[in-house]
Amino acid sequence: MALDVARLKAEFPLLEREINGNPIVYLDSASTSQKPFAVLDAMDHAYRHHYANVHRGVYEIAELATAEFEKARRKVATFIGASDWRELVFVRNATEAINLVAYTWARANLGAGDAIVLTHMEHHANVVPWQMLANERGVELRWIPMTPEFTLDLSDLDTLLDGAKLLCVSAMSNVLGTINPVRELVAAAHAHGALALIDACQYIPHIATNVAEWDADFVAFSAHKLCGPSGIGALWARLELLEAMPPFLGGGEMIRDVRLDYFTTNDVPWKFEAGTPAIVEAIGFGAAIDYLESIGMAEIRDHEIKLTEYALDALDNEFGDRLKIYGPADIAIRGGAISFLFDGIHAHDVTQVLDQDGVCVRAGHHCAKPLMRQLGVPATSRASFYMYNDEHDVDCLVKALIRAEQFFAL
Ligand code: ALA
Repeated sequence: MALDVARLKAEFPLLEREINGNPIVYLDSASTSQKPFAVLDAMDHAYRHHYANVHRGVYEIAELATAEFEKARRKVATFIGASDWRELVFVRNATEAINLVAYTWARANLGAGDAIVLTHMEHHANVVPWQMLANERGVELRWIPMTPEFTLDLSDLDTLLDGAKLLCVSAMSNVLGTINPVRELVAAAHAHGALALIDACQYIPHIATNVAEWDADFVAFSAHKLCGPSGIGALWARLELLEAMPPFLGGGEMIRDVRLDYFTTNDVPWKFEAGTPAIVEAIGFGAAIDYLESIGMAEIRDHEIKLTEYALDALDNEFGDRLKIYGPADIAIRGGAISFLFDGIHAHDVTQVLDQDGVCVRAGHHCAKPLMRQLGVPATSRASFYMYNDEHDVDCLVKALIRAEQFFAL
């Protein structure tokens, strides 16, 4: 069933505001999504009615806070198809999730002579932690290149994976919108004895996900891109991996016992959750999952496919070759992030003109400088959609782009 976008828009208070006298047109959800009343109210309620620290107090509101916090973990775990809630570790964001794997599993298992396979499409969060490890340990980094159609070039995959210990790949590129063949990549990694880490930040908010079907080993994502709050994300990993991995940060909650000369660690997942966690953010994360489920992930994907198709057609009809789109033309293998560039006009300049009309898009390297170098550009502008965007938003984008093109032609 088609989404009732007018009703959805009304559930996001920020979308009611104006910018420079124009109704806001928010097209930057790949960067972060807006928050519905359902999430804001759940967080407000938690702060007002049962806010206390979790796993520590035995009084009523502390027990309520702990129950809500752990209920949120179960919701998130179920949402991504985890078979066991203990496989879901709360972290600050997807970047921290990937760093956790780099500092624990990778430093316990990888050394000189080992190899990690990455792709040219990765966000810095899935590049720099591995470069830091490579610099420290002499681990080799190998790269899956890109085709001219903005997909991964898998022609040398077997050679690249030969002898590798880990494959790190994004499920959906934050710049190109490309959806990568995760299941096939994980299977190839496993066939070579490597584990697979999936950066699913851009994928999980938009497409129903089942980590068991992916058969991945580690999956990183954040709450703020799926209508939840910032400051919380999740690492999902197979239970036996989490149990074998050394802890990440030391402090409270992650211990079972501490003596003067040693400590023992708590059970998974708390072993990886040192310090007071993002309590209310976790509750907001759970509320965001409830919200997405009330709309339906299949309906969200369907809506975004139609909207992306509409936007690609509208941009092509209006600007043709004057506007270069960086991303696959095939709608079946792309999400709703559209990177574009006018010939001879800097992405930041275009974005500033759009802002005058209330149209919010991101410009820059999108934390993917190696990819930008492959594309041969320093920056792009990027419009990205969510369930609360509609064809009118796309029309506003096109209108603002016409104005930007005319402005810089003067
Ligand atoms: N990774 C986010 C983006 O692509 C912040 O904008």
